[in-house]
Amino acid sequence: MVADDLENVDEEKRRIVAGAEQRVSAEFNAALDYGSRELETAATLDELRAAESKVLGKRSQLAAFNARLAELSPVERRAVGRLLNDIRRRLTDLAADRLAELQASERAARLEAERLDLTEVLPRPRRGHLNLVTRTRDELEDVFVGMGYTVAEGPEAETDWHSFEALNFPKGHPARSGFDTLYLAWGEPGSTLLRPHTSPVQIRVMQDQPPPIYSIMPGKVYRKDTPDARHTASFNQIEGLVVDRGITFGDLAGTIEEFTGAYFGPDVHARLRPAYFPFTEPSAEFEITCAICAGAGCRTCSGTGWIELGGCGMVHPNVLAAVGLDAEEWSGFAFGFGIDRCAQMRHGISDMRVLLDNDIRFISQF
Ligand code: PHE
Repeated sequence: MVADDLENVDEEKRRIVAGAEQRVSAEFNAALDYGSRELETAATLDELRAAESKVLGKRSQLAAFNARLAELSPVERRAVGRLLNDIRRRLTDLAADRLAELQASERAARLEAERLDLTEVLPRPRRGHLNLVTRTRDELEDVFVGMGYTVAEGPEAETDWHSFEALNFPKGHPARSGFDTLYLAWGEPGSTLLRPHTSPVQIRVMQDQPPPIYSIMPGKVYRKDTPDARHTASFNQIEGLVVDRGITFGDLAGTIEEFTGAYFGPDVHARLRPAYFPFTEPSAEFEITCAICAGAGCRTCSGTGWIELGGCGMVHPNVLAAVGLDAEEWSGFAFGFGIDRCAQMRHGISDMRVLLDNDIRFISQF
């Protein structure tokens, strides 16, 4: 009897539970389908966070179902609550799976973006080349090194003593008075200057080593010159100095001849004209055929057909004495000429100022 009653009660409960489950199943399945779709189609971590709050948050359908549990009898509530928990757990698991997937693919994308391809071939920066003046200097050095000369250098900021005094310039010489020379505000007034020629390096070379000397000394020089087709206030010279026993003017003339032929080729001729320099005696100016007009006369050579390249002469005994060399034992010659002028003649550049303009259209031609 008791057992029968209990069986009836159980039977009744099962009916109630089945009824309740039946009533919510359509709505619950729809909520599960909707929630699954929302979570699975989230394409980014942000979208997933938004979907999670829509599907599982305080204002979700699940939360609403939860609130409605209170309307049910205890038996129904337990059964429906279990179903609801089951749905919540499945959706929570889905959200966790989707989170792991999205994190993995975002990490992969970041790694791909940060990847360094060490085999990638990138366009190289365009390579420049030495300036025409530098190349000319190198080529002139090669010619003289080929003749057995060594290369020496000296400072661009020089003393008055090396630039003039030791080179036998008389006290009142116009070059010294500041007429051509740029003095520096350094030490005693007039004691330091931007060298107006490379000849002071002759003095330094003779002080540094005993003869025999066969040296060239290239470098920058400065003068208070107004720029024109043949002049710029800063230019480059190459000095030559030979000191040995029994050196004659013939050796000097032969050396100039040799150099002109080697550098300019057989169509360019050189000539020496008497001149005066305080540090050489006798002195000469040497000129070469103007390459712009091939000797016919033009604006660049002021219509003469010749262009002055530099000066030369036999080293003055006073200069030898200034560096403590015995003029009875040693003799020598010196020359100095413009490197820029050589480039100008060799390449037919009618106006020297373009060498300093830094116009890439000019520079890149050489
Ligand atoms: N230093 C002279 C000049 O600049 C050139 C020169 C050099 C002359 C050596 C004679 C000997 O004009």
